[in-house]
Amino acid sequence: MGIFMVMADSQPADLVTRVRKLRETLRHHSYLYHVRDRPEISDEYYDRLFNELRALEESYPDLITPDSPTQRIGDKPLDRFETIEHTELMLSLDSAGDISALERFDERMRKALDDKVSYFVEPKLDGASIELVYENGYLVRASTRGDGQRGEGVTQNIRTVESVPLTLRNDDRNVPSFLALRAEVVMRVREFETLNAHLLERGSSPFANPRNAAAGSLRQLDPQVTASRPLDVYVYDILSIEGERPDTQRDTLEALKDWGFRVSTWCRPAQNVEDILAFHSEMKAHRDDLDFEIDGIVIKLDDIAGRDELGETSHHPRWAFAFKFPPRKEVTRLLSIFPSVGRTGVVTPIAFMRPVDLGGVTVSRANLHNREEVARKDIREGDLVRVQRAGDVIPQVIERIEEEGRERVDPWIMPVTCPSCETELVERGPYTVCPNLFDCPAQLAGRIQHLASRQALGIEGLGDETARLFVREGVIDHLPQLFELGVDELLTIEGFAEKSANNLVQAIAAARKTELARFIFGLGIPEVGIAVARELEAHFQSFENFRLANSETLQEVDGIGPTMAEQITQFLARSEVSTVVDELRRFIEPVPPQRAGNALTGLRFVFTGGLQSFSRRDAKELLEGQGAKIITSVSKNTDYVVAGENPGSKLDKAEVLGIEVLDEEELIAFLKTQGVEIL
Ligand code: IVH
Repeated sequence: MGIFMVMADSQPADLVTRVRKLRETLRHHSYLYHVRDRPEISDEYYDRLFNELRALEESYPDLITPDSPTQRIGDKPLDRFETIEHTELMLSLDSAGDISALERFDERMRKALDDKVSYFVEPKLDGASIELVYENGYLVRASTRGDGQRGEGVTQNIRTVESVPLTLRNDDRNVPSFLALRAEVVMRVREFETLNAHLLERGSSPFANPRNAAAGSLRQLDPQVTASRPLDVYVYDILSIEGERPDTQRDTLEALKDWGFRVSTWCRPAQNVEDILAFHSEMKAHRDDLDFEIDGIVIKLDDIAGRDELGETSHHPRWAFAFKFPPRKEVTRLLSIFPSVGRTGVVTPIAFMRPVDLGGVTVSRANLHNREEVARKDIREGDLVRVQRAGDVIPQVIERIEEEGRERVDPWIMPVTCPSCETELVERGPYTVCPNLFDCPAQLAGRIQHLASRQALGIEGLGDETARLFVREGVIDHLPQLFELGVDELLTIEGFAEKSANNLVQAIAAARKTELARFIFGLGIPEVGIAVARELEAHFQSFENFRLANSETLQEVDGIGPTMAEQITQFLARSEVSTVVDELRRFIEPVPPQRAGNALTGLRFVFTGGLQSFSRRDAKELLEGQGAKIITSVSKNTDYVVAGENPGSKLDKAEVLGIEVLDEEELIAFLKTQGVEIL
């Protein structure tokens, strides 16, 4: 460290230039990715640049500036949020869900503006409203809407959101000296579901909808927690500006884009009620395909000067109107609660309800997650419940509704034995699990389907329904029997004809030779998704090596920590797993990925600086193809550092640690001595 500190005092000019250049490049690509949705470089390349900048800043801390892309996550949790006065009142919107209210709004506007009316229509994002303030192009403050006049200071947290620029772009438009904006913090529906699944796994309560999840994530005292939550920010309004003010809403959105903000892509001009209704029904039809929850559309007067003329009431501006969608929350009767066994043996309580229409979709079932959720919400059969659907999320029971004087049945309890195979159930945290992995019919069907799925063996024509049919008909009562199925046997099952039976038998035969990662994934080991399976494949190279691994050797694999290692070893150690795996191995031949050679097996390389005769990616592929590992930071375990043009601090570190450094020519010469052919 000492050596770096000395150097920090006299930062060489080219180092300063490199750091500046890296920041510019990172900002530019982050903008292309988050705002334009048009990335030009791979995520890996972005990470590499980012890591280079971070390493330089670590070595030369004097070079760190608060607006550096590395400085998004502040390290100190707050004791409490500061109260912040908004630049301008953050009013709410006049809203309704019926056409007559919309028509009245349009009439009022036409009357006030002598019929000279042009609108701009936008989706109404269902998130949490915030104010962002930029002074001389730097983000200085962010606050929640609060009561409209004052909110909570959430600057630290907003800085962690990648789509919020820490500095305004000035490539296409001048940056105003002061800019206060109104924006919406949202969470993607899919990410919301993942977050809830994690929360449930940990035994915490899930969020009721993406809006609560966004608002809750924003109000975390520890910015690390906010940073771990997938938030996005869309900007739609200028609250106040010192500098040239755009004169229409359309131009406002253009300006916001130029300054580097994410702006909704669904906005457009509208001239009259007819246009507005067309947009409303279009958005309603797309509601389930969008990444984000929307709860209606917002109609705004396009002309900003006209807005000033109209003014506002104490609640809302007169120039805007929210035309809402029908609610997706309804009340219905819970008929029964039924435990359902999934692929991994987890028994999930499912609510069966009197069918109810939720924004155009009839809903009669909802997932109640686990026994603790049922108890926490105190939901019992026969209760009146409020249900909701968020985006394409599975419907949820939000709460039960108290009915005075109605007698309720006893609380629901999880059965003691598996509803599918009658094995005694076991408790794992808030979850209840059937331990009969392979003989439980429900799990067996799930495991057949999983082994056949696209990312595993990819057996076409063998989906969920067929798997269940095989188990129900008794064609398969042991997973490996899948590979012994014959055409004649299939023809005895309803729904199979000569052609479909032949095709399936052929598809099963073809799946016997498969990639190692696909086989590992197909086994349905807890926590092992396809990405982890790929890492296991790269590390162990053969199924037998993988099977012999213990918790310690598993943790040498990228992305595997102690908990996951423990889960994997425990699963593989079970005798019924061993038996099934042995039998499956009689049919399936997993092959490791083809690689060019083994000349560099076990060697660890770090790259720094640009290469001339190949791209980083090609060089990486070439070396990995020979069994080398490419890592991003220099440590005492590094074997070689390859230094190209303008190398970063990794070179200094290599020198300090005494690691062999190769320039490009030396790398090529070294590869030749190892017998590696360079094309
Ligand atoms: S304009 C005072 N535009 O809806 C007018 N608001 O229910 C400024 N919202 O608190 C708001 N999408 O947080 C506007 N495209 C959009 C919006 C939008 C969502 C939110 C906003 C407001 C709430 C009112």
